[in-house]
Amino acid sequence: MAIFMVVVGFVLMLCTSCTALLRWNEVRYRKKGLPPGTMGWPIIGETTEFLKQGPNFMKNQRARYGNFFKTHFLGCPAIISMDPEMNRYILMNEAKGLVPGYPQSMSDILGKCNIAAVHGTSHKHMRGALLALISPTMIRDQLLPKIDAFMRTHLSDWDNKIINIQDKTKEMALLSSLKQIATKESGLISQSFMPEFFKLVSGTLALPIDLPGTKYRQGLQARKNILRMLRKLLEDRRASEETQLDMLGCLMNKDENKYKLTDDEIIDQIITILYSGYETVSTTSMMAVKYLHDHPKVLEELRKEHLAIREKRRPEDPIEWNDLKSMRFTRAVIFETSRLATIVNGVLRKTTKEMELNGFVIPEGWRIYVYTREINYDPYIYPDPLAFNPWRWLDKSLENQNYLFIFGGGTRQCPGKELGIAEISTFLHYFVTRYRWEEVGGDKLMKFPRVEAPNGLHIRVSAAN
Ligand code: HEM
Repeated sequence: MAIFMVVVGFVLMLCTSCTALLRWNEVRYRKKGLPPGTMGWPIIGETTEFLKQGPNFMKNQRARYGNFFKTHFLGCPAIISMDPEMNRYILMNEAKGLVPGYPQSMSDILGKCNIAAVHGTSHKHMRGALLALISPTMIRDQLLPKIDAFMRTHLSDWDNKIINIQDKTKEMALLSSLKQIATKESGLISQSFMPEFFKLVSGTLALPIDLPGTKYRQGLQARKNILRMLRKLLEDRRASEETQLDMLGCLMNKDENKYKLTDDEIIDQIITILYSGYETVSTTSMMAVKYLHDHPKVLEELRKEHLAIREKRRPEDPIEWNDLKSMRFTRAVIFETSRLATIVNGVLRKTTKEMELNGFVIPEGWRIYVYTREINYDPYIYPDPLAFNPWRWLDKSLENQNYLFIFGGGTRQCPGKELGIAEISTFLHYFVTRYRWEEVGGDKLMKFPRVEAPNGLHIRVSAAN
């Protein structure tokens, strides 16, 4: 009996403490003018619900509080905005104090000159320097030939093998960028660079706990190792006095490049390019393979487009700019894949001062999660939204509509969009013209918070003919 009473007492105490803690956290953030919503537990807020329930957490909160509500997640008080018009406004108005609000671990590991960490004129400078490297002319004359050469080799020798397409597309995204950055040296450094880069990426997604063995600590260490490798690359290039026609060559060419970056800025710019194009390009490529497998009619149409290009050329001829421009259906497949899989759920912003938004007063330093996932499934924009239907994108006006946030929007809209599309298109070209494939089966795919196959996505590959 006594034990029973102790247990009941303990449970009652626990319930009272939990209720008190939840209430305390609500009262703490009950400032006049804030939008409705719940704040969850002190410190962790509603992070667990957010990660566990994913999109359903957002939908449930929206059903209770509308399109613009408060929460507490990833360690900070935050607003979730699901209103397309408001989202557009936030993305277009960085100058009003709505700057990128990515976690501290990201800027610690990606560097203080990383594009997401800089604002105002510094951002203009770093973005200008990046755009000069990946302009359409640069893609046509310098980058596409490198991408083509890389894809040919990367996609050779897959016949009669079981391939983990998730690993292959990750390697592809990293190594293809590395080749564009430092063409001559990439082959030599790629094997030591790759594991460090993978650790760096995991570190940016981890909680900033700087203790032995944590992903964050490993990420910081990986940054140090990568800095060492890149500094050596710069030193060797200076010593050789040879001018190289690649991204690093352009960045180091102080005479001809109007953006004169310091060595630290060059290094952070390289890390930005590698990091930003890595997960986006690899996941879109993997999901395109998945959707093409599941939709034979789409695959047939895509293959037709690529075989028509191949027929005009000898097997050893590379893909050229005009070929790329003619890949209309491929572009449609890429947009439809990004939409249906929602490769990017949204982007994070932070208020630099107290401000009024949507009729509410948002305090300084709050995060705003510009959540764009739901717009991808809006039946008014995309009839039959759950169908994989690339044909819808052949109507070009869909790419130009106001609420397309697949590549972000406003001053931070993805500068690597066309480069990313060129990489995925070239990958698809060699993949569908050289091979047929079937899924081994049994692999799980997670859609939230990131699209990933926890144990890989395995396909059995055979030669196309
Ligand atoms: C399918 C491929 C890609 C997708 C879906 C994608 C998506 C996005 C999105 C949604 C943003 C907005 C982030 C924000 O507003 O906070 C963004 C920004 C950015 N992307 Fe991409 N991206 C892709 C490929 C690439 C590639 C290949 C590069 C390589 C250069 C790149 C470089 C960047 C950079 C540097 C930014 C930050 C721009 C700034 O802050 O001014 N992206 N991307």
